[in-house]
Amino acid sequence: MVELKTPSEIDAIAAAGAVVADVLAAVRAQAVPGVRVSDLDAAASELVAGAGARPTFLNYHPRFAPTPYPAVTCISVNDAVVHGVPGPQVLADGDLVSIDLAVHLDDWCADSAISFVVGAADPGDLALIDTAERSLLAGIDAALAGNRLGDVGHAIQAVARAARYGMLADHGGHGVGRQMHEAPHVPNEGKRGRGMRLEPGLVFAIEPMLIAGGTDRYRHDEDGWTLRTADGSRAAHVEHTIAVTESGPRVLTSKG
Ligand code: MF3
Ligand code: CO
Repeated sequence: MVELKTPSEIDAIAAAGAVVADVLAAVRAQAVPGVRVSDLDAAASELVAGAGARPTFLNYHPRFAPTPYPAVTCISVNDAVVHGVPGPQVLADGDLVSIDLAVHLDDWCADSAISFVVGAADPGDLALIDTAERSLLAGIDAALAGNRLGDVGHAIQAVARAARYGMLADHGGHGVGRQMHEAPHVPNEGKRGRGMRLEPGLVFAIEPMLIAGGTDRYRHDEDGWTLRTADGSRAAHVEHTIAVTESGPRVLTSKG
């Protein structure tokens, strides 16, 4: 069942979203060559606690996972697409890093992810990230009352496919509210005019996951969590939680 949120509930989600955006920006600033990925997670943990929020991923145990999630963030480096578990890996010049974070603040959740390159960037990596960001913005722009979910998926997919990138098959966004994962599922591909009609009060995360090599195939890492590209090429993942409102889409995970 899809639960519509009131304007004051949307404001509460935006307050959680401001914490997410601020923490992501602060952790990104610390992500330089030589830094250990687990230290970035520790920094996120402190910042989330300092903001009076609860890290949603920690101990989260979805059906697809073998174990409860052991960290505050997902940090996915290079060929890791999503759900990278922060570990002892040390970041090197030119690494492509995606950081995903959700928090609960006052019982409301917000979820967002950023991708960027550490140190000197390969132009191909910057193009991949730029396309992922444009794909996300196209999806947000399509999140208009009266449109359908298929219009959002179509907008996301059109940008990614025009650039001949692969997309993580079977993965997409999701409703957000008191829970991180609520109905509806928000596919990254769709047909115009198909699917659920969008109404003011609908809140969901849009999260394109692009694969540089152009195939949609992925594999599970031995850790049971990390999804990696099957061809070993790099991937980018960006995400915002947004609300459909009378006056258009509102991004809820922007800086406070
Ligand atoms: N932001 C991720 C998503 O929407 C959630 C990561 S899974 C977790 O799929 F277990 F780490 F929470
Ligand atoms: Co998400």
